[in-house]
Amino acid sequence: MASSTLFLFFSSLFIFTSLLYVSEADYSAPIVKGLSWDYHHKTCHKVEKIVRKHLKKVFKDDIGQAAGLLRLHFHDCFVQGCDGSVLLDGSHGGPSEQTAPPNQSLRKQAFDIIEDLRNLVHRECGRVVSCADIVALAARDAVHLSGGPHYDVPLGRKDGLTFATQNATLDNLPAPTSNASTILSALATKNLTPTDVVALSGGHTIGVSHCSSFTTRLYPTQDPTMDKTFAHGLKEVCPTNTTNATTVMDIYSPIKFDNKYYVDLINRQGLFTSDQDLYTHEETKPIVESFAHDEKLFFEKFVKAMIKMGQMEVLTGEKGEIRAHCSIRNNDNKGYFSFLAEEEDQYYVESKDELR
Ligand code: HEM
Ligand SMILES: *[C@@H]1O[C@H](CO)[C@@H](O)[C@H](O)[C@H]1NC(C)=O
Ligand SMILES: *[C@@H]1O[C@H](CO)[C@@H](O)[C@H](O)[C@H]1NC(C)=O
Ligand SMILES: *[C@@H]1O[C@H](CO)[C@@H](O)[C@H](O)[C@H]1NC(C)=O
Ligand SMILES: *[C@@H]1O[C@H](CO)[C@@H](O)[C@H](O)[C@H]1NC(C)=O
Ligand SMILES: *[C@@H]1O[C@H](CO)[C@@H](O)[C@H](O)[C@H]1NC(C)=O
Repeated sequence: MASSTLFLFFSSLFIFTSLLYVSEADYSAPIVKGLSWDYHHKTCHKVEKIVRKHLKKVFKDDIGQAAGLLRLHFHDCFVQGCDGSVLLDGSHGGPSEQTAPPNQSLRKQAFDIIEDLRNLVHRECGRVVSCADIVALAARDAVHLSGGPHYDVPLGRKDGLTFATQNATLDNLPAPTSNASTILSALATKNLTPTDVVALSGGHTIGVSHCSSFTTRLYPTQDPTMDKTFAHGLKEVCPTNTTNATTVMDIYSPIKFDNKYYVDLINRQGLFTSDQDLYTHEETKPIVESFAHDEKLFFEKFVKAMIKMGQMEVLTGEKGEIRAHCSIRNNDNKGYFSFLAEEEDQYYVESKDELR
């Protein structure tokens, strides 16, 4: 099968080349009150280095984890804001975000990697960096270490105290079967422009998808907008509409963060309706073309949109908390934390050894 051969080929390359810094990112854009570029400068100036160093190691073993981390940040931000709520295990409140259908395909390892990062950061600095900030930094490094642009992330998010309901999750994460008009209007409610939508969809330049996310385009009838050879390959990976298998989302360069996703769309080799229809819709088609032709432009717009996405409905200041464990809110964590007093947000852990 062509795509798996191609995948093996790309897996054998590891990308630290062509690392590009988007220095012209639009830092004049207003950042949300309570966040700042140097938020951890005094209390944990090493945080970005710690995250970067650990992720380099993780990605060297498996670059696929970069995609899982990027998607985790997207899900965190779209559902109830970038507050780390996606990380919370379900508790007495009912089923959590993680068990909602769109969340079920989040990589389990992404949650473990975030918790490992939190542990490393808190061991160095104490409990001063939120899980939500760590998710945002991990997504940033996932992009950069896969060959994409580097950008600075406004920091200072607090972790939320509640997870989202399944309904809220379903309402806020568009389905891959949606057409472009649906995606545009859904994302417009989050203050994202058509350019933001097309740029953010470029996140699909890395990573994999399960058959269930696109088999409605193959069975019972094949989507006429799909390239025939591409469809044939997908049918080999997913011979029925119930096959449990995965395939890469950017057939051209599946593990490299580049603009080839847009070239795929022009070739009618976009995996989801929500991808391919961006090249059909008259408002988004020219944007797709411009990104396919100009990677630098794509990187600039992607960075701008990510910085915007990363600030959606954030909790800052006295709101929220800094979780001592990313999957448990501090309230539910008394045993673990019994040596500490009531006001969880008021103090910092003094000894490195107090946190495992
Ligand atoms: C615009 C609406 C979007 C839809 C409908 C959508 C839908 C999906 C679906 C269905 C999958 C595959 C899940 C599976 O079957 O395993 C997926 C994977 C992925 N998505 Fe999106 N997505 C959207 C936006 C985004 C955004 C904004 C980003 C990040 C900037 C993103 C990044 C990713 C990544 C990196 C993966 C691969 C994950 C992995 O390999 O583990 N997506 N998306
Ligand atoms: C799905 O994940 C999002 C991202 O954090 C989370 O906010 C939401 O609560 C999860 N939904 C469900 C129903 O588990
Ligand atoms: C969730 O959505 C379903 C279907 O729209 C509805 O029947 C159900 O009552 C909702 N549940 C909650 C808790 O809002
Ligand atoms: C897009 O999907 C929505 C909801 O399914 C539908 O109402 C609308 O007609 C579709 N638009 C186009 C242009 O196909
Ligand atoms: C698979 O296709 C069959 C026959 O068309 C249909 O009845 C069934 O609902 C489909 N299953 C899924 C998971 O789409
Ligand atoms: C698909 O397969 C994977 C690994 O083989 C398994 O962990 C997962 O539970 C399966 N998913 C479904 C929906 O059957």
